[in-house]
Parts: sequence; C-alpha cells; structure tokens
Amino acid sequence: MSASARKPIRFGVIGGGLMGREFAAAAARWCQLDAGPHPPDFEPVIAGICDLSPAVRDWFNRNCPIEHDTDDYTALLSADDLDAVYVAVPHDLHERIYTDVVRSGKAMLGEKPFGIDHAANARITEAIEAHPKAFVRCSSEIPFFPGAQRIVEMVQRGAFGTILDVEAGFWHNSDLNPDKPINWKRQVAHCGEYGVLGDLGLHPLHLPLRFGWVPRDVRCVLNNVVTSRPRAAGDSVRVPCETWDNATMLTHVRTDDQDFPMTVSVKRIAPGHQNTWFVKIAGTRQSAHFSTENPKTLRTMPYASPGATQAWNVADVPFAPRYASVTGGIFEFGFADAIQQMWAAFCDEMTNGRDGMRQTGETPFHCATPDEARRHHDILDAALRSHGTGQVVSLGG
Ligand SMILES: NC(=O)c1ccc[n+]([C@@H]2O[C@H](COP(=O)([O-])OP(=O)(O)OC[C@H]3O[C@@H](n4cnc5c(N)ncnc54)[C@H](O)[C@@H]3O)[C@@H](O)[C@H]2O)c1
Repeated sequence: MSASARKPIRFGVIGGGLMGREFAAAAARWCQLDAGPHPPDFEPVIAGICDLSPAVRDWFNRNCPIEHDTDDYTALLSADDLDAVYVAVPHDLHERIYTDVVRSGKAMLGEKPFGIDHAANARITEAIEAHPKAFVRCSSEIPFFPGAQRIVEMVQRGAFGTILDVEAGFWHNSDLNPDKPINWKRQVAHCGEYGVLGDLGLHPLHLPLRFGWVPRDVRCVLNNVVTSRPRAAGDSVRVPCETWDNATMLTHVRTDDQDFPMTVSVKRIAPGHQNTWFVKIAGTRQSAHFSTENPKTLRTMPYASPGATQAWNVADVPFAPRYASVTGGIFEFGFADAIQQMWAAFCDEMTNGRDGMRQTGETPFHCATPDEARRHHDILDAALRSHGTGQVVSLGG
C-alpha cells in the first residue's frame, strides 16, 4: 500500500510534554507498520500543537508538519481541518479540556486518569454521554505488549479454569531519591488527592476491567514516604511533596462464574523497579505471569489433568504485536512500540469501527474506553475512602 493510500487522520496535540512527544515519535515512524497482509489504511498526521511552552512548540514545529501552532487549545478545536486531538496535560486540566473537546465534535484520545478525581471524571462522562457520536478513548498502552496480549487470549479462551487469585501492578523507583525535584505529579492541586492512585491506577486495572473483573469491594493502604522535595534541581529549598507515593489495594472480584481476590498495587517508590507493569493469574487449569521487567518473557503453567506435574514454562515471546511491524519476530518489543500499537488501535477503530479493525487475532483489542476509565475511578475513589476510614468500601454488585 502506498503512503498516499493511507487515510490521513489530522491530529492536534494539546500538551506536548513527555507523552505528547511519544505520540509524535510513533506517528513519525508509521512506515514501521507497513507490514503483514493487512497494513493500516490510516495514518496519524500531527498538524497542530498547543502548549504553553514555546520550546515545546518549537520541538513540534521541527519534527511534525505543523500548520496550527498555539497556546490556546480552543484554536485547535475550532480548526476545521483537524479530525482529532490527543490531550496529555496535567490532571487538573482534564475536565475542562476533555469536555470542551467532546463538545467540539473532534475525536479524542485523552490521557489517563481522565479527570483529576471521581467528580471530574463524572462530569467528563456526562459530556460524553451527551454526545454519543463522539469517538473518545483513554490512553493505556502497556497491555499492547505481546506478552500481555497472550494473557488476553488465554482469558478469552477461558484457559485458567477456576481463578484462584490475580495480582496486577505498576511500579516505579525514581522517587526513592529524596532529592528528585518536585513536579506537578507530586502536588495535590495538579495531581489530586489520589496521588499515585490516579497517576498509575489505570495501567494495572485496564486488563481486569476489560475482562469484566470489576471488584465488588476494596480495602486499601496508602503511604506517603517522601514529604518534601527540592523546589528545582540543585535547589536547597525544599517544598511539600503532598501526594501518596504508594498504594496497595486488596479487592474482591465476583463474576457469574468466578470469585477471587485481586491485589492491585501502584508504587512511585518500589526499589529497583523502573516502569514495571505486571499481571499474575493463578488458576486451577492454567497460571500465567507477564511483567515488563522481562518484556520478552512469558511464564505459563498448564495443569491439564489431576496430579499432573506443576512446572513453569518460560518462553521468549516473539515480536508479534496486534499490528504487524517491519521489526523482525526475533527482536524485542518495548515501550515505544506499545505506544505505537495503541495509536494504531485508536486510529483503526476510528477509521474502520470496532468490527472492522485490521488487527491480527480473533477479538480485536481496542483502546481503553471512557466506561473503563469511569469504572477505574470508582475503584480509586473507594480505595481513597478505604484508607481514610480503615474500612472495606463496597462498590456494589
Ligand atoms: N500513558 C502513559 O504511560 C503516561 C505516562 C506519563 C504520563 N501520562 C499522562 O499524560 C498526561 C501528561 O503527562 P506528561 O508526563 O506528558 O506531563 P508533562 O508535564 O511532561 O507534559 C504536560 C504538558 O502540558 C503542557 N500544558 C500545561 N498546561 C497547558 C495548557 N493549559 N494548554 C496546553 N498545554 C499545557 C505543559 O507545558 C507540558 O508541556 C497526564 O495525564 C499523565 O497522567 C501517561
């Protein structure tokens, strides 16, 4: 397929920081996905940038075919030649910007947590419900790792039998350094009372929610370990570091045919862990474990018959993502690949609809939905209340 045969989806980026640039980099190497029998018939083109920082906008002008350059996001929303926006801004801005985007009629991939707190998320949800034709998805890329997708397929096949327990988490280590300077993610005004819950919570909850494993109750313990940080790099003045660093939630999942405990942990201070996302499922017929700590490795343990040997299989997963890539199967998959796969899923669903998605695999894996974002806020809000009261908080159901 020639590049011109791919339908351009013209994007504006609102917030061109860490994540905005990840999208730009993924879009710039779209030829990576010109592979396999059904290469994408769509291509993101970043034609607009909105950021308060001139340096950020310069970066986009240097690296993308920018036609709209602004520090006022409403200018992108009123640009008739833009089809969609990606919003990656601090959490206190989500509600205002996301609701304005939805009302503008542009498609949107919005960053998690989709609102600084439960109330903000409810108002975003309301705006989406009032505009049912709006195509809106929430960013969460790590489930696109091929190892995680193998686990998705196992769940879809019902391979686990009776589930005994599930553990999922997302752990970082950089905040172990008490001299790491403050940033907006450590300030309640910008990151919310949730702190780490909102910052990282969707990552480990995305797959459980997709599987229908919605907790009926939550008990949670939060830690705030580092309570002040330098105002800037090398600055001797320290300012309050207000947000929760670590959260451990023990939840009870009950579905029509399963009843099990699920532990979900999100940590800003997990010594030795740099962007470690993991899911472990123990079942009577199959167990499995995938972690980005060893991104090629998938551990599975089938238990086919009573008394069979219990031995873990440890396999390297080939580079075989949902959207075929020019990268050979012998190579390794990484964060930037997961971002690109997520973007392909967003553009694919927007272009071809859920049923027409050009992915490999029987059931397409689409991006996190606003409903999944809403359900994750229900869990985070309950977790916050559980820590505050020391009680188990019911989520109903
Ligand atoms: N999916 C992931 O893996 C992942 C990882 C990190 C962050 N995030 C999410 O992405 C979002 C942004 O985080 P980040 O790490 O990219 O932050 P960042 O601080 O690196 O970037 C935010 C950008 O927004 C800009 N900005 C601030 N106010 C603005 C305004 N009014 N209009 C336009 N631009 C404005 C800032 O100048 C900055 O460039 C957050 O929701 C965060 O939770 C997601």
